Amino acid sequence: MIILNSKKALCDYRNSLEKKGARVGFVPTMGFLHEGHLSLVRIAKENADAAIVSIFVNPTQFAPNEDLEKYPRDIHRDITLLEEVYCDALYMPSNEDIYPAGFQTYVDVNEISKYFEGESRPTHFRGVSTVVSILFNQIRPHFSVFGQKDAQQARLIQQMVKDLSMNIDVIVAPIVREKNGLAMSSRNKYLTIKEREDASIIYRTLLEGAELIKQGWDNAPEICQILINHMKGAEGAKPEYIKIVDQVNFSETGKLQKGSNYIILAACRFGFTRLIDNLIVEN
Ligand code: PAJ
Repeated sequence: MIILNSKKALCDYRNSLEKKGARVGFVPTMGFLHEGHLSLVRIAKENADAAIVSIFVNPTQFAPNEDLEKYPRDIHRDITLLEEVYCDALYMPSNEDIYPAGFQTYVDVNEISKYFEGESRPTHFRGVSTVVSILFNQIRPHFSVFGQKDAQQARLIQQMVKDLSMNIDVIVAPIVREKNGLAMSSRNKYLTIKEREDASIIYRTLLEGAELIKQGWDNAPEICQILINHMKGAEGAKPEYIKIVDQVNFSETGKLQKGSNYIILAACRFGFTRLIDNLIVEN
């Protein structure tokens, strides 16, 4: 695997791929990789001549009170894991490579960024769409792979690519889970062993929601209230929101229609750790 430690190194590497006419797949990450990230790299490998992964803990998507400084990092382990899945190149830009002195241009996907995660973390998505745009411009991939784990983020990127005529295919990959159903996340590292067990309630609650919909329940707020109560009753869980959105436009729905697909979104705290998860339900 080639390690690209600067924008200049990336630029040279990308030009060499251009000369070969290589199809480039790109997986942006913030590192501290796990099987969820690696599943995206495998998809990139299957569809590209060269799979490029970036590791950049992006300051603009963290609010001042969030965990930027203590965001988990283990670059040596990340390199080993990426080599195991035959990743072709790892791009690790400096802050300057992404946000040069005097930086002042942001990308804001106005509507999708307002709700759910955007409500809890008001500046978060502006940071995500901005950094992903910059990375897209630097890497110039043919396609990029995102995880369904961050459903709203994936939808936001799809919207941005469409609105700004970026000629990049966005692939959304399924959520990889621990044995107990907990969605894999770099932030799971913050959980105690007990919290990790307790947090499996999130997936069980999502499954319960899917079951209610399958049984014919169609009042979304009512279903969400049942699920919130279920979660509140579980040890250690402090649910923040549970919402049902239409899969196509990512907007909240009142009455569920047969033949439409929905996503149940959940955000819940365990101790100091905030986790998100979701489940697609085909109705
Ligand atoms: P990060 O949290 O490192 O996630 C990188 C990618 O891995 C995202 O597309 C995310 O949805 C995906 N991912 C995380 N956990 C997953 C799981 N359990 N199963 C499948 N995919 C999973 O998301 C970010 O970084 C950043 O916001 C980024 C897009 C890199 C911009 O800074």
